[in-house]
Amino acid sequence: MVDVILGLQWGDEGKGKIVDFFAPNYDVIARFQGGPNAGHTLYVEGKKVVLHQIPSGIFHPHCVNLIGNGVVLDPVTLKRECDIVASFGIDVKKNLFIAEKTNVIIPTHRALDKASEQQKGDSKIGSTLKGIGPAYMDKTGRNAIRVGDLLDPTFTTQYKELRAKHQTLLNNFGFTEDISAWETEFFEAVEFLKTLNIVNGEYFINNKIAEGKKVLAEGAQGSMLDIDFGTFPFVTSSNTISAGVCTGLGVSPKQINEVMGVTKAYCTRVGGGPFPTELEDSTGEELRRIGSEFGATTGRPRRCGWIDLVALKYTCMINGITKVIMTKADVLDSFENLNVCTSYKVDGKETTEVPYAISKVKIEPQYRTFKGWHCDSTVINDAANVPTDMSAYIAFINGYIGAPVKYVSNGPGRDQIITL
Ligand code: GDP
Ligand code: IMO
Ligand code: MG
Repeated sequence: MVDVILGLQWGDEGKGKIVDFFAPNYDVIARFQGGPNAGHTLYVEGKKVVLHQIPSGIFHPHCVNLIGNGVVLDPVTLKRECDIVASFGIDVKKNLFIAEKTNVIIPTHRALDKASEQQKGDSKIGSTLKGIGPAYMDKTGRNAIRVGDLLDPTFTTQYKELRAKHQTLLNNFGFTEDISAWETEFFEAVEFLKTLNIVNGEYFINNKIAEGKKVLAEGAQGSMLDIDFGTFPFVTSSNTISAGVCTGLGVSPKQINEVMGVTKAYCTRVGGGPFPTELEDSTGEELRRIGSEFGATTGRPRRCGWIDLVALKYTCMINGITKVIMTKADVLDSFENLNVCTSYKVDGKETTEVPYAISKVKIEPQYRTFKGWHCDSTVINDAANVPTDMSAYIAFINGYIGAPVKYVSNGPGRDQIITL
């Protein structure tokens, strides 16, 4: 049986904290897509840790953590992260497993990401520059190097061939930066990676399921960044939605049980692309300031706005969400009024559906206004103490999206969560 936790917006919903919170109930935590573009923040022994490649169950010694085949893996980021995790006394050689079919990010993928963004100029995606797009292109283009290949004697030849292909593209882009330092650290990190547990991921996970172990699949990014259903072309390059769990881990759809979606009580986006409810005013600045909305991977300021129920209902639909977890409710504590987007006006016509040309049309969000709750919600630890105005806000969202909000996160700490 596999449960899923994934993001319902444009990423950074607080998935890391939520996976860490639920990890005690699971035996296996498995990342099924994305790569070092992700930044999942946890608090361990009061210290902030940001995970990019390693699943967020790593700090629970009873959990086995699997990097699934749907992930793109940068050995350099992985090595750095393993060092951080080891400093907390965690033995990654015992608790971390990597699927041999996982695709490897090589230094020229990062260079290509940068060159491609530079060429796009004003219409750039605003990618994290971690090489994600080029690495997934090599997967679908059937050129990629996979983790299993690192153990093969032909790896160096394979690497040189792929690098040569990339060099032609980089020459076309006019990219001339010296990346030899990246290559040195890459080869060092590959040697380290080879000492970790490299497994056949699909047998590994299906054997665990057969043994009756409980698996939690951890998503990266958010559903509105999904390559098929997000705000294309301003998306990432993988399927971030629940369907990605099956291809990203090698499990059957019949094994999927709960699909838990994480949404902020408002909305943020980092990078380019449409964001109908974005607030480019002092209210948006307040959300950014109170919510500390700066990217966990790139440090970029996140764009902020009101919660968008049109987009949220859409992502609940395509994921088959069974439970919703609302995070960062405490960030709204001091706001006088709260807006909730209930429809879009596109070219003067009202709709409750996400339009195909969302990246091209002008959208005027239509709002319903709620009273703020004006209290310090970070200290609430019981559903009975949730203020009436917060309950009304949540009840409306519940009703609109048709999926139940079962948990409200009211602070970054592991224990700051209210079960409704
Ligand atoms: P992820 O990518 O979905 O794991 O989210 P990030 O880690 O990128 O961003 C979420 C940020 O919000 C992190 O800094 C978390 O520590 C923080 N956070 C998570 N839940 C809450 C919450 O309920 N309240 C507050 N104030 N911060 C939270
Ligand atoms: P987590 O898992 C927020 C965004 C980038 C850019 C677009 C494409 O922490 O929620 P990419 O590097 O994937 O080619 O960039 O996607 N993006 C994220 N935004 N959270 C993330 O991950 C993201 N991963 C990618 O900012 O707009
Ligand atoms: Mg993040």
